[in-house]
Amino acid sequence: EKGGYDYFMLKEIAEQPRAVADTLLGRIGSDGRLHLDEMRITDQQLREIDKIIIIACGTSYHAGLIAKYAIEHWAGLPCEVEVASEFRYRDPILTRSTLVIAISQSGESMDTLMAVRHAREQKARVLCICNVNGSTMPRECDGVLYTHAGPEVGVAATKTFLTQLVAVYLIALYIAQVRGTKWGDEVFAMVQLLATMPEKVEKVLETMEPVRELARSLAGERSVLFLGRHVGFPVALEGALKLKELAYMHAEGFAAGELKHGPIALIEEGLPVIVVVPPRAREVLHDKIVSNIQEIRARGARTIVIAEEGDDTVVPYSDTLIEVPAVPTLLQPLVATVPLQVFSCELATAKGHDVDQPRNLAKSVTVE
Ligand code: M6R
Repeated sequence: EKGGYDYFMLKEIAEQPRAVADTLLGRIGSDGRLHLDEMRITDQQLREIDKIIIIACGTSYHAGLIAKYAIEHWAGLPCEVEVASEFRYRDPILTRSTLVIAISQSGESMDTLMAVRHAREQKARVLCICNVNGSTMPRECDGVLYTHAGPEVGVAATKTFLTQLVAVYLIALYIAQVRGTKWGDEVFAMVQLLATMPEKVEKVLETMEPVRELARSLAGERSVLFLGRHVGFPVALEGALKLKELAYMHAEGFAAGELKHGPIALIEEGLPVIVVVPPRAREVLHDKIVSNIQEIRARGARTIVIAEEGDDTVVPYSDTLIEVPAVPTLLQPLVATVPLQVFSCELATAKGHDVDQPRNLAKSVTVE
């Protein structure tokens, strides 16, 4: 069943190019336009939306954080993201023109489900992004966009995360297509680029041996920090979550710009810090994060840098450099997350843990 792999998680990491391709399948027309009629939301309804609120838990929440950047940029709509367990305990402002998007792999997370019910009571339109056909959430929502990752057995979300990203990109680009946006050409170009992402993910997977070696060498560490900016920030959060749940290790993700507001005090000799560097095309952000890498290295951090291939600027400050294919910033999480999954999986197995069944965790959390 594990297809020759020791763990389902390894198999599921390897399946990611296919999962991404399957989630794109049939949704891009030969004319390069997106077709998402299956969502059961009419174009007219999409034109009436004035705000999007995303609710989700855990890894799905990280996909939601990335969605915010994509929706604001391409669709030009205000977007809030919140952990589902907090949502109905505030007084969220919802109207008929609010679109709520619930993201849930299983479609059964009770926190997300209760938030969905609350949003529907307030008359908001609710769409979900879900991987399990026939689960509760798609039945209770107004519409659904399925991810086609196939069954995920490992408790850690891997291939379903990448396919959730594809789904949110598709939704953001589709809203842009329907509503018209100043980014018309860019939207068209992005759709073409999305279609090439399975190869890019495959390429990352082919270069993971040094990451596995690195992970084994860090199995005795007490703590690992993760830094990122822009969409690299949620990627850092996701990297830290994977390490916590699989390796039972202290791990934290920070927005790199926050370093000087506190976390830099944590930096000490030998502390491993993984930094997700935005593409060079994002010059301002890129240069700022390169200075962060210099700052933490000067204070003794062991810098592990994930950057696009050919980015020579980071070479002098990287103790380990992990190169990923060059893609536009908004799409970078699709390639930058993969090394972090491989890293935590290998580190956890080096410590002798069962990565498919981490202690205290369940694949789907059906209590609030
Ligand atoms: O099924 P869901 O996407 O609603 O699950 C949400 C979280 O419980 C889930 O992503 C969890 O954080 C994973 N174990 C992370 O790897």
